Amino acid sequence: MRYAVGIRRQALVRSWRARPLRLREPFFSVPREAARIRTRCARAASDPAVSLHVWETHAPVLLELLDRLERPRVLELGMGYGSTPLVLTRSASSVSLETDPSWLARFTRYQSDDHRMALWESYTEDAWTDCPFFLEPWDIVFVDNAPARSRQGNLLAVAPHARFVICHDTEETRKPAASDYRWDFSSFRHVWTYTRFSNYTTVVSNVEPIPLGHLPGIDGAPPARERDSARS
Ligand SMILES: C[S@@+](CC[C@H](N)C(=O)[O-])C[C@H]1O[C@@H](n2cnc3c(N)ncnc32)[C@H](O)[C@@H]1O
Repeated sequence: MRYAVGIRRQALVRSWRARPLRLREPFFSVPREAARIRTRCARAASDPAVSLHVWETHAPVLLELLDRLERPRVLELGMGYGSTPLVLTRSASSVSLETDPSWLARFTRYQSDDHRMALWESYTEDAWTDCPFFLEPWDIVFVDNAPARSRQGNLLAVAPHARFVICHDTEETRKPAASDYRWDFSSFRHVWTYTRFSNYTTVVSNVEPIPLGHLPGIDGAPPARERDSARS
């Protein structure tokens, strides 16, 4: 009996760690979570010992770009507690798309006329298919979606209409990594990669230089040889 209670308590603690109370209804608050992420980013910027969770390592880049653009219009591909609170609170208008219905259901109560959310179920491993939102002009497209490899196809599809595209989890282009996103930024005029955390975030643009050079990062697309050797 005591053993069974112990096992149940361990399972509860594990689930709270994976999704702490502040991220659960009725405790979750979009503005409070956005403020928390901003504070974490500020602490990480001033203290090298502070890190962010791997799923939110894009936050300093997304926040900084959102802050710099006037009334940004944002397309978010792949929702979650790391990016969606920032998009909802810092963009003037947004569309957030998600491939997992139960994951999307966690966020739909926070949508509004200015901040729409939708399920996108038409995709292959290589790209989402026939998505009309890809053809709209966006100030920022944030690419952090499933399936993992469709991120590169989505990047190329949104590129002609986007001012900036932020791609999360790009470290495989610069160092050995277990991932297989097959990123290729060689067709972009401006490329910059944020390298502060183990998961990298790359911003590309064919319109204007990336205004984030004051953050720790590397300018330019990785040379082909570096890309190939990082994958082998
Ligand atoms: C890397 S996650 C997206 C994270 C999100 N952009 C953020 O910053 O919080 C990519 C996809 O994984 C899926 N997913 C399913 N369960 C998840 C979970 N527990 N945590 C994060 N993503 C999950 C969702 O379809 C999500 O769009």
